[in-house]
Amino acid sequence: MAEHNLSHIDLNEYPHINKGLDGIVAFSTTKSNINGQTGELIYSGYHIDTLAENATFEEVCFLLWYDRLPNQTELDELHKKLQANRELPEPVLTYIKTTNPKAEPMAVVRSAVSMLADFVDDDASDEYNAIIMTAQIPTIIAAFDRARNGKEVVAPLKDGSTAFNFLYMLNDEKPGQAAERVMDLCLVLHAEHGMNASTFTCRSICATESDIFSAVSGAIGALKGPLHGGANTAVMNTLLILKEQGENADPVAFTKAKLDRKEKIMGFGHRVYKTFDPRAYHLRKMSKELSEETGHVYLYEWSEAMVKTMKEEKNIDPNVDFFSATVYYSIGIQPDLYTCIFAMSRISGWTAHFFEQKANNRLIRPRALYIGEKNLPWTPVEDR
Ligand code: CMC
Repeated sequence: MAEHNLSHIDLNEYPHINKGLDGIVAFSTTKSNINGQTGELIYSGYHIDTLAENATFEEVCFLLWYDRLPNQTELDELHKKLQANRELPEPVLTYIKTTNPKAEPMAVVRSAVSMLADFVDDDASDEYNAIIMTAQIPTIIAAFDRARNGKEVVAPLKDGSTAFNFLYMLNDEKPGQAAERVMDLCLVLHAEHGMNASTFTCRSICATESDIFSAVSGAIGALKGPLHGGANTAVMNTLLILKEQGENADPVAFTKAKLDRKEKIMGFGHRVYKTFDPRAYHLRKMSKELSEETGHVYLYEWSEAMVKTMKEEKNIDPNVDFFSATVYYSIGIQPDLYTCIFAMSRISGWTAHFFEQKANNRLIRPRALYIGEKNLPWTPVEDR
């Protein structure tokens, strides 16, 4: 990068640059509230612990979309709509089966979701399109995973929950109650989280009066990065590097060495939480139980050693992505699908924010301080 002479810049015009928009409040929302100091998270009025204990993913979708819990009839109706719309349009399925099997799963989800727009009527409501995406993202993920592994794609079930159907399509085997509950709880915990990068992207696209598929495709692109949803895959890759080291694996030394090199430890830190992420408590508990049940207790123990080291060395706590990695690993999911599962859940939050932005819209248009040159004389190409 060239060095810039800033002497010609009128800093009075933009006296303060907030790099990363840290702490800037640019929206009002009824979808969620995060208290970063106390480590509290609320979805549309309900504490995350209350939801983790009681709610299903479908109840959370309804809650985020309509700001209230569904009654039994409404919940049954939502289940039916999701179940009836799980099958992918044939060209989308063909794309998934024929694309590069080495493609990043999140890139495939992003492209396939974008394609879904071609198969809905122009006048379909945003609510209908939100149902389509919520119903079909699990089918996209499972179909791609099976196709890339040379396995037959499993058609979605016409009954059962989102969590049950996803595990069924992934493994061609109906999951037990415990596995369904684990999956469902992960979906509940990842559904919504304020003005994170992907939701901000979704709202920014909505604010241009673009369509909901464009907004969600953009959001998926933002979620894919390792500083956002991509961190859960990166956490598992870190643990797998340790696993490869066999008896020499030392999570404490590994973490300290990374910190010495000024590298970030994935799954730790948060822009808003300055304490333990409340979602991580639930995932930590699941990670412990599942790793004990499935013979991966060493992964859990290494994770705890990393948590302790990060606290001592940097006073930084784990975020939602840290323990979710070992949870997914214990239920047999490929590490590079973890971020896709995040998307499969966060579709509820993104679409809820899309509705909210559209109902009270204003173009999102911050400014940038220009630090380049001004009024340079033109040099013909042959003289440059
Ligand atoms: N490992 C090591 N140091 C860290 C980490 C980390 N994971 N996170 C923050 N720090 C340090 C950072 O080096 C800096 O230290 P110093 O002031 O000495 O330079 C200080 O903490 C502030 O970090 P920052 O990057 O300026 O903070 P931020 O608010 O911009 O970053 C974050 C938040 C999530 C991007 C960051 O914590 C991070 O990169 N974490 C690792 C990636 C990750 O786990 N992402 C998932 C986020 S939560 C769920 C989600 O959104 O998907």
